[in-house]
Amino acid sequence: MRIGILGTGAVAAALGARWVAAGHEVVVAGRSPAKARALAGRIGGAALAPGEAVRDRDAVLLAVPWAAVEDVLREVGGPDGALAGTTLIDPTNAVQHAVGTLLIGPGESAAGRIAALAPGAHVVKAFHLLTPDHWTEQADREVTVALCGDEPAALDAVSRLVRDVGAVPAVLGGLDRARQLEEVAGFVIGLAFSGFDPAAAVPRVVRPGAASGTPAR
Ligand SMILES: NC(=O)c1ccc[n+]([C@@H]2O[C@H](COP(=O)([O-])OP(=O)(O)OC[C@H]3O[C@@H](n4cnc5c(N)ncnc54)[C@H](OP(=O)(O)O)[C@@H]3O)[C@@H](O)[C@H]2O)c1
Repeated sequence: MRIGILGTGAVAAALGARWVAAGHEVVVAGRSPAKARALAGRIGGAALAPGEAVRDRDAVLLAVPWAAVEDVLREVGGPDGALAGTTLIDPTNAVQHAVGTLLIGPGESAAGRIAALAPGAHVVKAFHLLTPDHWTEQADREVTVALCGDEPAALDAVSRLVRDVGAVPAVLGGLDRARQLEEVAGFVIGLAFSGFDPAAAVPRVVRPGAASGTPAR
């Protein structure tokens, strides 16, 4: 696949490296051309200006902080349709740092806002729940990436990209599930920053479809 990555930070580096290793063509872009060149050199991709990095791409990863999303999408022409027909992966966490409460109003989602800023893009919420070390270090357990989106072909493409980083894709539904997935990330962040293991706060499922305790209702 031809993949464009907007952002040159931890998520961009970790996923970009794995996708290059899986045989994809990856271009990266950031507000710092020097950082984009350095990252491209490290992972074996190419650095381009942001507007060029989204052109003729099968998928674009929006790997910037929530506060930067609107500016970055405007810079690449999202509101003018530059991403129409493109799979746009949203890994953002629009949450209050270290607390986890959502910065998005009731009933909205970050992914939904992104879809509104990039008309025609096939937005898929994915990769927001897991830290970049899941993609850079050997996993000691199976990793599941929960994702959602409205376009079946885009969900298939992102599912392939999930498998290419060694994880299992779990498609949970349309983009109307994004708010829930974003709340879960906020819950995890809130627990982690409070010193609790988020994995210990959810039921342990011993095999698919069977919870070890009484399932929550
Ligand atoms: N780190 C995690 O554990 C994690 C896990 C899952 C999802 N996420 C989400 O993934 C996204 C990227 O996270 P990250 O950890 O990769 O962040 P990061 O390491 O801080 O990198 C952020 C990238 O965005 C750029 N950026 C920051 N502000 C910008 C602005 N105003 N305009 C344009 N570019 C800007 C940064 O450029 P400079 O280098 O020039 O500042 C950098 O390239 C975030 O939305 C985050 O919530 C993070």
